[in-house]
Amino acid sequence: MSSDTMEAGSKTGSLQRYARVQIALHWIIALIIFGMVPVGLVMTRLDPSNLTNLLYELHKSFGLIVFGLVVIRIAARFILGAPPLEPNMPRWQIMAARVSHGALYVLMVLVPLTGWAATSACCAPVNLFWTIPLTLPIGGGFDTAGPIFLLHNIFTMAMVALVLIHAVAALYHHYSMKDDTLRKMMPRKR
Ligand code: HEM
Ligand code: HEM
Repeated sequence: MSSDTMEAGSKTGSLQRYARVQIALHWIIALIIFGMVPVGLVMTRLDPSNLTNLLYELHKSFGLIVFGLVVIRIAARFILGAPPLEPNMPRWQIMAARVSHGALYVLMVLVPLTGWAATSACCAPVNLFWTIPLTLPIGGGFDTAGPIFLLHNIFTMAMVALVLIHAVAALYHHYSMKDDTLRKMMPRKR
């Protein structure tokens, strides 16, 4: 995952971007996660009702989709690499980018995985949109699920904090440093 110097995607003019599939996955996953967090916070605070059940089902199903997309995205990252970081970036920023990107990948796996594992332990079945059964073989009921849900919450909050810093850093590069960091992750103009 640290192969930032590998040639990735294609060259448009002099700008080396992420590959199309990586750009698409980055923004689709980000969009779903931006929806998942408020839905998670709301559904756990509502009284039981049909709406609450609907929100739980959507939360679990889109969470499973995030998990699948992240696995594909990590495979794509190993195969396609990434465009080089901006030249002349100070060493601390290079380290910060590597560490935070790695941590975001780890959290993008752990957040849905803990939700999936805990729900399987306490509250089977876990279905994808009411249909395809995807319950993990984990027993133990609420005693097992409780600590895993706690991890689910902690990892989610850590991911949200890191995403905020990540987004601010991207906007800082774009508007203040005026470099190509953000453009490398933007869809190509037709
Ligand atoms: C990127 C994916 C996910 C994100 C960002 C996310 C986020 C959250 C958040 C913010 C909460 C509310 C925590 C609280 O304040 O109590 C929550 C709760 C919950 N999540 Fe997720 N989640 C994700 C994936 C999943 C998956 C894949 C499942 C199950 C298949 C799942 C099942 C649950 C359940 C059952 C709760 C309620 C826990 C409780 O009652 O304490 N989540 N999630
Ligand atoms: C849930 C939200 C997000 C997650 C989980 C996320 C995650 C990531 C990860 C893991 C990478 C590293 C890609 C790689 O090298 O393989 C990345 C790159 C990038 N992200 Fe995000 N991101 C999110 C939202 C955003 C937002 C809102 C922005 C812009 C405001 C943004 C801008 C960028 C940019 C510009 C890069 C390329 C950085 C570089 O190559 O130097 N991301 N993102």
